[in-house]
Amino acid sequence: MKVAVMGYGTVGSGVVDVIDTHGKLLAKRTGGEPLEIAHILDLRDFPDDPHSELFTKNFSDILNDDEVKIVAETMGGVNPAFDFTKRLLKAGKAVVTSNKELVAQKGLELLQAAEEGKTNYLFEASVGGGIPIIRPMAQCLAGNNIVGIAGILNGTTNFILTKMIEEDMSFGDALKLAQDNGYAEKDPTADIEGHDACRKVCILASLAFGKHVYPNQVATEGISNISLEDVAYVSSANGVIKLLGQIKYINDDSIAAFVSPAVVYNGSQLASVRDVFNAILVRGDAVGDLCFYGRGAGKLPTASAVVADMVDCAKHVVRRKLFGWGAGAEDYVIDHKATVEMPFYVRANVSEEQVKGIFGEVKFLTRKDQPSDEVAFITGSMTENELMKRLDGIHTLNIIKVTNY
Ligand code: HSE
Repeated sequence: MKVAVMGYGTVGSGVVDVIDTHGKLLAKRTGGEPLEIAHILDLRDFPDDPHSELFTKNFSDILNDDEVKIVAETMGGVNPAFDFTKRLLKAGKAVVTSNKELVAQKGLELLQAAEEGKTNYLFEASVGGGIPIIRPMAQCLAGNNIVGIAGILNGTTNFILTKMIEEDMSFGDALKLAQDNGYAEKDPTADIEGHDACRKVCILASLAFGKHVYPNQVATEGISNISLEDVAYVSSANGVIKLLGQIKYINDDSIAAFVSPAVVYNGSQLASVRDVFNAILVRGDAVGDLCFYGRGAGKLPTASAVVADMVDCAKHVVRRKLFGWGAGAEDYVIDHKATVEMPFYVRANVSEEQVKGIFGEVKFLTRKDQPSDEVAFITGSMTENELMKRLDGIHTLNIIKVTNY
């Protein structure tokens, strides 16, 4: 069966590698159909690549090739990937993607285009890189109401935080290392400021509850304000700071969804997730807690998920899988700061006596070389709005959510 790849960057070239090296195995797994790469779309030139004769800069070469049945979109970004994907799906070609930005923003329209074209739009690689999470959520957990999800969804930031926690490495050096390893987005701001994790939260929430959640509905905070001082205080409380995406079922018409740094206590499975690894903890009302763990970024782990979707499409080439979600609503994601209660880590220039006066008994934290006018503590459970009201007039240095996952 002829297939095409759009975008020959880290993931796209990984997809071609996996198809090259696993040809026979893939043919067995599709039920006898080898995946034969007919075109690779990229605007750049790759004269020394062993597939140089397959390259095209013209999208129509793929769209108009009737023999191409499956296309892997690994271009990233919304445009022109959206236009290309929509046209392919409407033409009846299956599309698989690792493009979380596109799925988070345009997933509903593309799922509808797939329905129109009687074909499949699959995106296992869009969340958690190589971790199987989309299919388990869509199929294996069908007998559950999902109660909540908490995930380390960005490899780059987890890598940076791990280097800060374990090696006292500067933020900049750790970011450079992540970029050199091919983990970071083209513009690493999307990693650092939490936008990449936000897109993955949108996809997980949409899948879990059946209504499209858009990135602008998910309050998002990155890790750029996390300091080595915060890391040290949290360590004294037997915890670590992780960038978490969190989703909570409120009722059938509303959920809470947010991305932020969070204190995770050692003992939680999420606390031991290091380097570029991701983990997604899913809490179902029948199954209890499940933890999906693996490499969340990188060439071959992500390609592993893309190719699995290609195999699935090859098996369902004349059948549409019932998969996806419906329309969302503007007020569907509630303001978590007003409603969700949790403890908070606070670092501030204030005396312990003042803190006790405001919060009652709290857990004070310590660090080496702690200045005499600085305290750090963990509050009791309250909403963020309540916390901010109590801290009114206090000079805070950092505030971090504490998770119960
Ligand atoms: N930049 C992303 C990350 C790639 O670091 O997790 C995988 O989505």
